[in-house]
Amino acid sequence: MRKVDRIVILTGAGISAESGLGTFRDEGGLWAQHRIEDVATPEAFVRNPDLVHQFYNARRAQAADAGSNAAHVALARLQSEFPGDVILVTQNVDGLHEMAGAAAIHMHGELSRALCATCEHRWDAPLSMETGATCPACAAPTARPDIVWFGEMPYHLDQIVEALQTCDLFAAIGTSGQVYPAAGFVEEARMAGAATIELNLRDSDMSHAFEDHITGLASVTVPKWVDQVLAGR
Ligand code: OAD
Repeated sequence: MRKVDRIVILTGAGISAESGLGTFRDEGGLWAQHRIEDVATPEAFVRNPDLVHQFYNARRAQAADAGSNAAHVALARLQSEFPGDVILVTQNVDGLHEMAGAAAIHMHGELSRALCATCEHRWDAPLSMETGATCPACAAPTARPDIVWFGEMPYHLDQIVEALQTCDLFAAIGTSGQVYPAAGFVEEARMAGAATIELNLRDSDMSHAFEDHITGLASVTVPKWVDQVLAGR
């Protein structure tokens, strides 16, 4: 195996599935139960903020009851024990990486944070957000979940692209590869000469772009893979 100093890991909803949080596109997933255009766009929030808050309040309550699983714990161990850099980028809006002790870049925002649609001030979200709640900074009644909706720009992209361009191992865990720009990260890492590995329950839309694949439940495959990386294999 080539020498690895800098690892970038992208996680998706599949890593939190065994913690009881539903994924988006698996059978019976969130996008089978709710229309994206009703709950996850800026237009939806203008049209029916009650419905959008209801959707994210339910997600926040579920996430608050969930615990991190063996896959989150293994990535936290990798971050603390690997002698080089381990940059963890997540599309997930839950806090399960942090609960396990890892530091993650939340490119799609976080359920635990609120954002003022008027002045962009951010603060800790209450468990239940209500339509018309005011911003603590500017007092506008425009508090919204700090979640990146469809049609909005993901967060921290400069930092993520820089990490991808300088990594020598890229791993994607539990993500379907259906949402850009995250689905394009593997190509970016490959162009930088990085080794690429996908860990998923099944083939994804981006499987063809990875050199290596490990198939199975994240709670089983991720701890084993972390052991291999730490052993330099
Ligand atoms: P998806 O629901 O699209 O995909 C979940 C992936 O996890 C699938 O590829 C599954 O095969 C895999 N999976 C499920 N259970 C697993 C397990 N126990 N172990 C390993 N893999 C498992 O979720 P994401 O790819 O995260 O964005 O979706 C990306 C974005 O689309 C989300 O961040 C969200 C959504 O719309 C926004 O809301 C902006």
